Amino acid sequence: MDYIRAIPGLNDSIPTEIAEKGKVMIAYSDCYTCHKIQERSVGPAFIDIAKRYPVKKVYIDMLAQKVILGGSRSWGYPVMSPHPKLSLEEARVMVSYIMSMKE
Ligand code: HEC
Repeated sequence: MDYIRAIPGLNDSIPTEIAEKGKVMIAYSDCYTCHKIQERSVGPAFIDIAKRYPVKKVYIDMLAQKVILGGSRSWGYPVMSPHPKLSLEEARVMVSYIMSMKE
């Protein structure tokens, strides 16, 4: 687990209804072809992503952009495919669900 370099910071809370909405949206998208909740797959485990980033608007926005644009380099994994059909707001809701897995 030492590949997770957690970024220090305080966490904001994520409203339950947003997290629930994101959960459904992720289930209907292609995310689970490359991600698993608990373990690494093609991409990092969702709980590991939740561990790395503090729950803050800047990080949620940054990760939402990354989901839309795709890309690589942060985890040393292959490339995430872009999701140009998602709006920034939809991507934010999905990322909020991932971040709600932080314990
Ligand atoms: C084709 C495979 C693939 C699909 C489909 C995919 N991902 Fe990813 N995802 C990856 C990979 C690979 C990485 C690691 C990229 C890196 O190292 O920067 C990643 C990283 C991430 C990250 C962390 C980005 C970072 O910079 O730390 C988030 C958040 C994420 N994915 C969310 C999603 C969501 C939400 C979906 C569905 C809309 C999705 N992914 C679909 C492969 C995928």
